[in-house]
Amino acid sequence: MARITTSTNHSIIKTTLCLLPPLLLAAVYLHFQTQLSIFSPACRRASSQPTAAGAVNDYVDRLRASATFLPLKDTRQGAETWFISTLNATSEPEGEARNLVFPSPASAGRLLCLSAPSRRDGARNAYALAWRDALPRGAALLRGLAFVSETAYDHTNIWHGLMALVPFVSWHERSGCRAWPPARWALFHHGEVRTEMSPWLATLAEATTGAAVTIETFDDAPNPACFEEAVVFRANVAGMNKERMLRAADFMRCKARAYCGVDASRAGGEPSALRVTLLLRTGARAFKDEAAVTCVFEKECKRVPGCAVAAAHANNLTFCEQVRLLSATDVLISAHGAQMTNLLFMDRNSSVMEFYPLGWKQRAGGGQYVFRWMADWAGMRHEGSWWEPVGEPCPNNPDILDCWKSRQIGHNETYFAEWGARVFAAAKERKARSAAEVSADERRRKAETCNCS
Ligand SMILES: *[C@@H]1O[C@H](CO)[C@@H](O)[C@H](O)[C@H]1NC(C)=O
Ligand SMILES: *[C@@H]1O[C@H](CO)[C@@H](O)[C@H](O)[C@H]1NC(C)=O
Ligand SMILES: *[C@@H]1O[C@H](CO)[C@@H](O)[C@H](O)[C@H]1NC(C)=O
Ligand SMILES: *[C@@H]1O[C@H](CO)[C@@H](O)[C@H](O)[C@H]1NC(C)=O
Repeated sequence: MARITTSTNHSIIKTTLCLLPPLLLAAVYLHFQTQLSIFSPACRRASSQPTAAGAVNDYVDRLRASATFLPLKDTRQGAETWFISTLNATSEPEGEARNLVFPSPASAGRLLCLSAPSRRDGARNAYALAWRDALPRGAALLRGLAFVSETAYDHTNIWHGLMALVPFVSWHERSGCRAWPPARWALFHHGEVRTEMSPWLATLAEATTGAAVTIETFDDAPNPACFEEAVVFRANVAGMNKERMLRAADFMRCKARAYCGVDASRAGGEPSALRVTLLLRTGARAFKDEAAVTCVFEKECKRVPGCAVAAAHANNLTFCEQVRLLSATDVLISAHGAQMTNLLFMDRNSSVMEFYPLGWKQRAGGGQYVFRWMADWAGMRHEGSWWEPVGEPCPNNPDILDCWKSRQIGHNETYFAEWGARVFAAAKERKARSAAEVSADERRRKAETCNCS
C-alpha cells in the first residue's frame, strides 16, 4: 500500500513536471480569457484540475512579485545612461539613434513598467520589466505603442524638442510608417515626468506619425503603468548617422507640407524666382530697427531678377503658416533663436543667414552654432552669421554674454548689403542650375511622396 502510494506520488510528480510548461501556457491563456471575460466561471471550473491551476497561479504570483523597481534616474551614471541604466541601448536598425525596445529579445520579452509620480526628482520615479501576463500588482496595461523620450533638453523649446523628436520620426519612418502609430508619448527630463510639448512639436509629431499626440501624465502613480509596446530614446539623436538625419528631415518636411496643404506640385516655386524671407522675432533678440533691416535686403533683392522679400513675425504665425511660409523660402534671414528651427521646411539646398547680439561670439561657445549644425543635417546651406560688434558696457554685469545675450540686435547697412548681394546672387544661380538638372516632373514626383522605408 505504502509502495503503491509512493510510486503513485512519483508518477504524479513526473506528470506534473511534464505538464508544467503547457499548464503555464494554459494558465496564461486562461488568465487572459478571464480578464477579457470571455469564459464563464462554470467553464473555467471545468477546464483543468484545481490543484494544477493553483500551482500555476502560484507561479504567476511569484513572477508578479519578482518585477523589481529601480530608480528611473540612476545617479551613479552620467546623463547619457542614467535613464533605465541597467539596459544598454543599441543603434538598431543600423544608423538609428541608440534606443531600447520593449518587449524585445533584449528585455526577454518583458514590457516596460513605470511608476512615475515625480515631476521634480527622477530618482523618485522607477521602472521595472515584467511579462505581460504577470504584471506587477496594481499595474495598468497601457495599450498600443508608447514613444518614451528622456532628454536633458526641454520638450517645450522647439529646437531642443526637435532633437528629441527626430529619432522617433526616423524610427517610425524606418518601420514603414506602421499602421499602428504611437498611442501615447511619455516625456522625461532627467527622469522627471514632463507633461508638455510645444504645440509646434506636437503638430509636427502628428503630421509625421498620423496620430495626435497624447502625453502620458501618470496620474495613477505610484501605481505602475506598463506599456504594451515601448520605444525609448534617452539621448536625443546620439548614435544617429548623417544619412538617417537627412532622411528624417526630408520625411518631416514632406509630411508637414502635406498636413498643411502645401501644393507639392508647386514646390520650389518658379525656377526663375528667388524668395527671401525675414523671419522676425519680438522682444529678445529682435532687430532694433526692423524697417531699416528689411529695407537693406529689399534693396539688394531688387537688383536680382525674380527676387521678392517677405517679412513675418514668427510669434504670430500658426504652425501651418510657418510651414507654408518656409516652403516658399529660398533664403531665410533670421536672428539666432528657436524660430529658426523652421528652416526644416525649406527646400533642400536653401540658404540661411543668422544674426546675433553682442556677447555670443565672445562667450557662447559651440552651443551658438546649433543652426549651422541643423542646416547641415537638414540639407540646407548656412551662409554665415553676423555678430553685433559693439555695444554699451554693462555697468552692473561684467559678463558680456549674460548682459547682452537677449538684447535687441542692431545693423550695419554696408555689411548687410554686401552679404545679401553675395548670397542672393549665388542662390539665384544655384536654383537655376538645379532647375536645369532636375526636371520639374521629377521634382514634383519627389515632393509628392513621403517615402517610408
Ligand atoms: C552593456 O555594455 C557594456 C559594454 O559593452 C557591458 O560591459 C555590459 O555588460 C552591458 N550590459 C548589459 C546589461 O547588457
Ligand atoms: C505680429 O506681431 C508683430 C509684433 O508682435 C506685430 O507688430 C504685428 O502686427 C503682428 N501681426 C499680426 C498679423 O498680428
Ligand atoms: C543640392 O546641391 C548639391 C551640390 O550643389 C547637389 O549635388 C544636389 O543635387 C542638390 N540637391 C537638391 C535636392 O537640389
Ligand atoms: C560695417 O561693415 C563694413 C563692411 O564690412 C565695415 O567696413 C565697417 O567697419 C562696419 N561698420 C561698423 C560700424 O562696424
